[in-house]
Order: sequence, then structure tokens, then C-alpha cells
Amino acid sequence: MKWKAAVITLSDKGAKGQRVDESGMLIKRMLEEAGYEIAGYSLLPDEQQLIEKELIRFSDEEKVDLILTTGGTGFSPRDCTPEATLNVATKNVPGIAEAMRYASLQITPRAMLSRAVSVIRGETLIINLPGSPKAVKENLEYILPSLSHGLGILKGVSGECGTSLGEK
Ligand code: MTE
Repeated sequence: MKWKAAVITLSDKGAKGQRVDESGMLIKRMLEEAGYEIAGYSLLPDEQQLIEKELIRFSDEEKVDLILTTGGTGFSPRDCTPEATLNVATKNVPGIAEAMRYASLQITPRAMLSRAVSVIRGETLIINLPGSPKAVKENLEYILPSLSHGLGILKGVSGECGTSLGEK
């Protein structure tokens, strides 16, 4: 099954053309290498209403299976990605955000400063990643192998969870 994914980068500087979106490009590359189809990409400023609208468009209209956001998860007054994500959620999926912080805390104590959330909206899984390419790589490589199984259950195409211990 080839899953459809969208990537949204949240960066005031990026949206003004003052910064190259390395993190968004990295997510696209990692998803493609994992067999995903990139069905959408946006680069937006840290504006909560714009972010919510784009999350809703990708979920409800484009019907992508997975949305990964990068940026806007920290403590800066403009950071609002988790709030936008929670506002459009139909279900909470705390384990993915917990797993990212668990893995990242082995690398840097600053991982506790990411407010990233993971949720479901309808049949779309939405996950926040932090903003830097380093953090994107460290977080995404930890969760990516498990996402396909979750998506299969969400879409009703996977059966029961496997019993073999090594299974991702
Ligand atoms: N997670 C990992 N794996 N590696 C990192 O370098 N940086 C942290 C954290 N998560 C980091 C990480 C830092 S310094 C911050 S401030 C938060 O993510 C929020 O990042 P954001 O504001 O760019 O979204």
C-alpha cells in the first residue's frame, strides 16, 4: 500500500523567503525513501488560522493519509503548531509524540522543550515534528517504521496487530 502524505513547514522566515526550507525537503526525501507518495507541500508563517485551514484541506479535501508538520513546536510566542493541530483533531494519539520525546531525550535534554502533538483527524494521521533538520531526522527516523502499521489500521486495510515481537 502506497500512502499519500503531505508536508507543512511552519516558519515565518521561510514563508518570507528569508530561509531555505531544509527541514521540509528532508521530510519529503525520508518519506519518499520509505515508499510514501508526496501529495502536497506548503510553507506557511506561524499563523494558527492558516495552519488549521491547511490541515483541514489536506485531511478533508485532498484526503491524504499522513500530514507531517515541521516547526512552531517550541516556546517562542509565535509558535502555535500544536494548538492548531489540537484544534482540528478528532482523536488524540499521544503515543507517537511520547515516543519522539523518549527517543530524543536520549540525544538531548532539550527534547523536553518540544510541545509537538500527534492526532487523528477523520482518516488522517497528523504529527508535529520540531523545526531543525537535525531534530526532524532524529524524530522521524524513530517513528517512521511504525507509522505504516498504524495507518493500515486507521484505514481498515490492516488486520490485527502482529504477534511477532520484532514487528514494526
Ligand atoms: N529533538 C531532537 N531529537 N533533537 C533536537 O535537536 N531540539 C529541541 C526540541 N526537540 C531537538 C529536539 C529544541 S532545542 C526545541 S526548542 C524544540 O525541539 C522545539 O523546536 P521548534 O521550535 O523548532 O519546533
